[in-house]
Amino acid sequence: MDTRGACALTLLLACVCPLICGASWMWLAVTSAGVPELPGCRGLSLSDHQRELCIRKPFLLPSLQDGAQLAVAECQNQFRHERWNCSTSSEPPLFGYELTSGTKETAFIHAVMAAGLVHAITRICSQGNMSECGCDARLQNGGSVTEGWHWGGCSDHIQYGTWFSRKFIDNLPKNSSVRRDSYTLSTMNQHNSEAGRQAIEQTMSTDCRCHGVSGSCAIRTCWRMMAPFERVGKYLKERYERSIQVPNQSRKKSRRKELSRPVDKSQLVYINKSPNYCVQDRRRGIAGTQGRRCNRASTGPDSCSLLCCGRGYNTRVERHVQRCECKFVWCCYVRCRRCESMNDMHTCK
Ligand SMILES: *[C@@H]1O[C@H](CO)[C@@H](O)[C@H](O)[C@H]1NC(C)=O
Ligand SMILES: *[C@@H]1O[C@H](CO)[C@@H](O)[C@H](O)[C@H]1NC(C)=O
Ligand SMILES: *[C@@H]1O[C@H](CO)[C@@H](O)[C@H](O)[C@H]1NC(C)=O
Ligand SMILES: *[C@@H]1O[C@H](CO)[C@@H](O)[C@H](O)[C@H]1NC(C)=O
Repeated sequence: MDTRGACALTLLLACVCPLICGASWMWLAVTSAGVPELPGCRGLSLSDHQRELCIRKPFLLPSLQDGAQLAVAECQNQFRHERWNCSTSSEPPLFGYELTSGTKETAFIHAVMAAGLVHAITRICSQGNMSECGCDARLQNGGSVTEGWHWGGCSDHIQYGTWFSRKFIDNLPKNSSVRRDSYTLSTMNQHNSEAGRQAIEQTMSTDCRCHGVSGSCAIRTCWRMMAPFERVGKYLKERYERSIQVPNQSRKKSRRKELSRPVDKSQLVYINKSPNYCVQDRRRGIAGTQGRRCNRASTGPDSCSLLCCGRGYNTRVERHVQRCECKFVWCCYVRCRRCESMNDMHTCK
């Protein structure tokens, strides 16, 4: 990003955004490295309670940005082959219509953002030099001598990050964990944010290292650690695919079906059916799939038939030039030939 872009963005974050985009911390995801310094808690597009928290814990500001970037990048990674590809818009709100449409996509966005924040904060806690959080102390002296292992090292302590993510994103009143049979957009978002945080816990694993005479592994030191965020993204994508439609609370009782069972904490829920994302719809900020690259050999979502919604595709030949047949020449360089290949490239009509 050039300096002008960076300035415009800072300006956008600081001035315009709170007025028109309902103040979302998600914008931190696009405050790229091109912006030399974050404008600080006061200059950010945060809601009042978020700004207050940010000012109380300014050392978490870099993690807020890390978490937002991690989450957006992972959303785009998980959806790169789908019709809706998690693209962000250049104007607020960051995810366009999908941030508030109440669809499965809205659900995924909220889950992955909340999870990203837990992940980013937990990582700095585990670096061990924060005064507010650190490694999981409960796991420091336990273990099982008879089974030959004990807890050691630094176990990721997700409780602090989870607490902060809840407080920062949801800001719930104390007794809000009621059993629901219908949802508003805001309770739907809260549910899905919590499911995102659960995903961090669900994907944690235990790692061990062997000790003992010449690697005999007589005794092992073990610690709990978070999965790489990509694994969390994959887990949430699976939840997205199995997400559950729930009734809209503001619908007249007669028109809505009550949920027969409460929804499990770790499931994603949505209120509205998704559009098919096939054709451009400017009003709803849907890009459509025209011009998207498809894979003729695939049978998955990136296949030409699914991605192009049956409209067909254009094929053009693309010339690739690569270094090839590289040989090591004594001494000391590598000599290569230039190889050309022709590949068919398919794009949706
Ligand atoms: C998503 O697809 C649109 C075309 O429909 C493309 O312009 C955009 O770059 C894609 N975004 C990502 C993040 O891949
Ligand atoms: C913690 O340590 C890392 C590297 O050791 C350093 O980059 C970071 O600034 C430190 N954070 C604090 C809050 O001291
Ligand atoms: C919290 O619970 C108390 C008593 O259980 C109730 O009176 C109050 O209305 C509840 N508050 C909210 C915000 O639900
Ligand atoms: C729920 O229904 C009401 C009334 O029909 C509507 O205004 C609102 O947008 C709906 N909520 C969502 C998330 O679609």
